Amino acid sequence: MHALRQRNQSQLQLALVSRDIPEPLSQAMQYALLEGGKRVRALLVYGAGIALNASIERLDSVASAIETMHCYSLIHDDLPAMDDDELRRGRATVHIEFDEATAILAGDALNTLAFELLTDPATSLNDWQARTITQLLASNAGAQGMVGGQMLDIEATQQQLSQPDLENVHRRKTGALIKTAILAGAICGIESASDESMRQLPILEKFAENLGLAFQVVDDILDVEATTEQLGKPSGSDQALGKSTYPALLGLEESKQLAENLYQAAIASLGAIGDNTQLLEQLATLIVRRDH
Ligand code: IPE
Ligand code: IPE
Ligand code: MG
Ligand code: MG
Ligand code: MG
Repeated sequence: MHALRQRNQSQLQLALVSRDIPEPLSQAMQYALLEGGKRVRALLVYGAGIALNASIERLDSVASAIETMHCYSLIHDDLPAMDDDELRRGRATVHIEFDEATAILAGDALNTLAFELLTDPATSLNDWQARTITQLLASNAGAQGMVGGQMLDIEATQQQLSQPDLENVHRRKTGALIKTAILAGAICGIESASDESMRQLPILEKFAENLGLAFQVVDDILDVEATTEQLGKPSGSDQALGKSTYPALLGLEESKQLAENLYQAAIASLGAIGDNTQLLEQLATLIVRRDH
């Protein structure tokens, strides 16, 4: 896991240094992309790809694209008009370290960089893989997925949603990109739409949906239970902002039980995937049992 994290780090560095980007945009993008971060989504790309016997080289650009998309979402999530947070990954957020305009633009640039990486002629993805993954990322990161989820999250501020409505927010704002990481990694191990490995996708989708929801339930729990030092971002931010969260709806104990149930359901679905699912299992465990 450590070696793959390092590998992704080098790929991300390369993606920025090989481009002619004006300052201070370049500095802000490096600041947001290269320092800190658990790299869970990049690792999920590798985990799902390895489960379907994809070559590591083929997974590189996909892992980088998902991480750049994720880092853009964090920059915008922290903006004054959104969660108005000043700390991320143990350091000042991008709009504090630079300024708001630079932060907005760094987010925009990381968003489009994701698609540049996926469609780079130098990737070892075949045309079907590149198109399928690009479509998947565009739709899941966009208005029906992550961006739509962020809209619902803001609309739900200062009110308590029902459980189905809260689940809808979490599935979109966080689950959609996690699902994309897993399905995109898997697609790297499938040659075409008529490949017999296509039957693995619905199984991995089930795994991804349970894990994606579990990820945000745990994020909500940690916002209550962990310290700012542990998190590297402000603890108690959700309550201060009046956010709709699982602990606010169900209480801590029931939220933890839900995360555990989602984890168990995710792990159970991996049984049908074959013998190379160790990394995915480790990542599921890390996501649910993490302390930051
Ligand atoms: C935080 O994601 C944002 C959410 C979707 C909850 P991570 O916890 O993966 O953040 P980093 O990348 O490790 O900083
Ligand atoms: C963030 O959710 C979701 C996205 C960035 C799309 P949160 O607002 O809970 O994430 P943190 O807690 O600030 O990392
Ligand atoms: Mg938010
Ligand atoms: Mg936030
Ligand atoms: Mg949070």
